Amino acid sequence: MKKFTDTFVLSNGVEVPCIGYGTWQSPDGEETKNAVKSAIECGYRHIDTASAYGNEASVGDAIKESGVAREEIFITTKHWVTERGYEKTVAAAEASLKALGVDYLDLYLIHWPAVAKFSPEWKEINASTWRGFEKLYKDGKIRAIGLSNFHQLHIDALNEFAEIKPMVNQIEFHPGFTQMEVVEYSKKSGMLVQAWSPLGSGAVLSDPTVNEIAQAHGKSAAHVCIKYALQNGINPLTKSMNPSRMADNMNVFDFELTADDLKKLDSMPITGYTGWHPEDAPADALAGTVEE
Ligand code: A2P
Repeated sequence: MKKFTDTFVLSNGVEVPCIGYGTWQSPDGEETKNAVKSAIECGYRHIDTASAYGNEASVGDAIKESGVAREEIFITTKHWVTERGYEKTVAAAEASLKALGVDYLDLYLIHWPAVAKFSPEWKEINASTWRGFEKLYKDGKIRAIGLSNFHQLHIDALNEFAEIKPMVNQIEFHPGFTQMEVVEYSKKSGMLVQAWSPLGSGAVLSDPTVNEIAQAHGKSAAHVCIKYALQNGINPLTKSMNPSRMADNMNVFDFELTADDLKKLDSMPITGYTGWHPEDAPADALAGTVEE
C-alpha cells in the first residue's frame, strides 16, 4: 500500500479501503457520532461497527450528516452471538440495515464462531448462520460476507459446506499478539485478514521495542503498529475518539519497516492481548443462543 486511498481487493473483486476506522467500545450517542463524522472529514472511507457495539445508529447518523455519498463509504457491521441460525441471521441483518439507515452493507461478518466448549452442535450452528449470510449476499443486501475471530478448525468446518466462501477474517492482531497461524491460514483460504485493536488497545504504544523502532524512523508507536499490519498484508481498523490522533494515524505512507524491524515485532512477548479468544472467552459473553 502506497497511499491512504489504496485498497485491498476481496476474492469477489470488492475493494476495501486499506485503513479502516473502528468503533469498538464507542458509546451510542453524540460522542461517537461526532467522532465518526470527524473520521470521515479526515478522509476515512471505511467504518467498522457491530450490532453488539450498540452504536450502529450513531454511525449511520454520522455517515448521513457527513455529506459524503453512501457509495463512497465502506460500511462493515457484524452479526452477534444471540442472532445465530438462518432465520435470526436474516432478521439481524435487516435490523442492522435499519439501525444504520442504509439499504445495503459493504461487509457483514459473523462476530464470533459458535464453539464446541459452549455448543456441541457448533458446526451445524455456524452452518445455519452462514446459510443466512449466503442468502443475504445473493439477494444483493451485502457486497461481501465474512468471519471474525475464526480459527483454522472453525474455518475448515464452515468451508465444508459453504457454497460461497468467506471473504474476510477479522481478528485481534498487533505487535505482541499476532496469531500468525490464523493469519496464514485465513490468507491461504482466500480471505483478507483485518486487524481489530491494531494498537493492542493502546497498551502496545508504550512498549520499548515498538518505541525504539518508531524513533529510528521519526514516527510514532501508533504509526509502527498500523504499518506493521499493512506490511503483513493486513487491513488495520484503527480507533481513536480524538480528531488529531485519528488524522495522525493516517500518516503511515512515508516510511517502511525494515526486515529487521519486522523480525523484532514478530517476536515480541505477549503484550496488549485482550484475552478474547474464541475457545476461551467469558462463557456468558459468547455462549449465545441457538436456533435450528
Ligand atoms: P483515543 O481514542 O483517546 O485516541 P486499538 O485500536 O488497538 O483498540 O487502540 C485504541 C486505543 O488507542 C484508544 O484508547 C485510543 O485512544 C488509542 N489511540 C489511538 N490512536 C492513538 C495514537 N495515535 N496515539 C495514542 N493513542 C492512540
